[in-house]
Amino acid sequence: MQVNKEHIRKLDYDHYLHPFTDTYGLKSIGARVIVGADGCHISDSDGNKILDGMSGLWCVNLGYNQKSLIEAATNQLNILPFYNSFFNTTNVPAVTLASKLSEVTPEGFERIFYTNSGSEANDTMIRMVRRYWDLKGKHNKKTIISRWNGYHGSTIGGASLSGMTYMHEQGDLPISGIVHIDQPFQLQHGKPGESEEDFGLRAANWLEEKILQLGQDNVAAFIGEPVQGAGGVIIPPKGYWKRIQEICDKYDILLVSDEVICAFGRLGTWFACQHPHINIRPDLIIIAKGLTNGYIPMGGVLVGKRVADVLVSQESGDFNHGFTYSGHPVAAAVGIEVLNQFKQLNLIENLQNKIIPYFAKAFDSLNEHPMVGDAKSIGMVAGLELYQDKTKKQHFPSEFGVGMICREFCFRNNVVMRAVGTRMIIAPPLVLTESLIDELIIKIKKSLDDTYKYIQDNYK
Ligand SMILES: Cc1ncc(COP(=O)(O)O)c(C=O)c1O
Repeated sequence: MQVNKEHIRKLDYDHYLHPFTDTYGLKSIGARVIVGADGCHISDSDGNKILDGMSGLWCVNLGYNQKSLIEAATNQLNILPFYNSFFNTTNVPAVTLASKLSEVTPEGFERIFYTNSGSEANDTMIRMVRRYWDLKGKHNKKTIISRWNGYHGSTIGGASLSGMTYMHEQGDLPISGIVHIDQPFQLQHGKPGESEEDFGLRAANWLEEKILQLGQDNVAAFIGEPVQGAGGVIIPPKGYWKRIQEICDKYDILLVSDEVICAFGRLGTWFACQHPHINIRPDLIIIAKGLTNGYIPMGGVLVGKRVADVLVSQESGDFNHGFTYSGHPVAAAVGIEVLNQFKQLNLIENLQNKIIPYFAKAFDSLNEHPMVGDAKSIGMVAGLELYQDKTKKQHFPSEFGVGMICREFCFRNNVVMRAVGTRMIIAPPLVLTESLIDELIIKIKKSLDDTYKYIQDNYK
């Protein structure tokens, strides 16, 4: 597609406020204009074909140009482009998707509350857990415990649950009733000589300490991402989630698994809570992104039996919550086709048997680079640290902005990789082939080399 880049950039600057962006600063750089996509690649207005190591924004798991998804949306637009689910009405795709999801969700998950995004799903979760405890007659059980450096969205509820201080600083967050404990990140919080298991136990016990401090009768739920994504792909230590589950059971706290990134095969299982390294029994699962392959906005709260039985009992009455687009028929039609594609492509088995082991080995090879340490993956999500001296685990001074330098070289070398401080992270499409994994690693290595050279040349 031919576009006048400078014209688009001017309109962009004049009219479009981007998410999480310094709009003033963007003027001098100019936004990168993405004009098309094919398979696992996107293309920009300069004609570059860029391997998308981030699946759009952790969502285009089946890649771009999936004809059957496009057809599903187009057909549904012709049949019923919109109707709401208020006032005792429903629509065929929303019902069909809900019932098809229950075939792949963990046992006991038969129901979904639809939203348009992960943030809305987390706001819904806040209202739902408080409603649950009210209906149980435990009116003080309101506080939700989350983690520093977790990410749960950008609405007032989602941003409050998120543990990003730079978000909290803007707008007096978190709202009351949301508190945080430290993240299970051994590179940050581990003690010298501490084993992974010991650290996992210690980190999980921060939850118990917080519950005791607040009083068990005041705590409604604990929420966490099975693997923290936006915080820099923080893979939890062994034993962490097992202990979290025990603590939630012991103190009668609902467990919420925010799988906006990690569901739908990202870890190699349908849902992240089913992965052997996580292995938890959540009460609620938050989903979005991969649900519709990112093509059409849709999210939801998967509601486990314990909560569903209370919300859907004879005495409960209305749940006074919902969105115009809850259960949007076009989004739902795409969601149904996503599930069909997973089955047709035998995607989960293919990931487990072939692609994930290949990806894990390839990503691990990045540890050989002089600037790279702690390169680790789980399923199809991975992160590494950029070190000035990797034997001492010493980082570059923060004013170097090494992550941003590396991210820029990645783009120049036609690969998308995301920077989070000194961490570089990826979550490529799940339909990546072995040869595309090779292409990905070659491009990342070249970008690391370029970054290394740039730092050597510019910062003595
Ligand atoms: C774990 C997690 N939860 C919630 C969200 C928010 O989703 P959305 O951007 O669709 O509102 C995200 C977004 O990246 C996420 O990673």
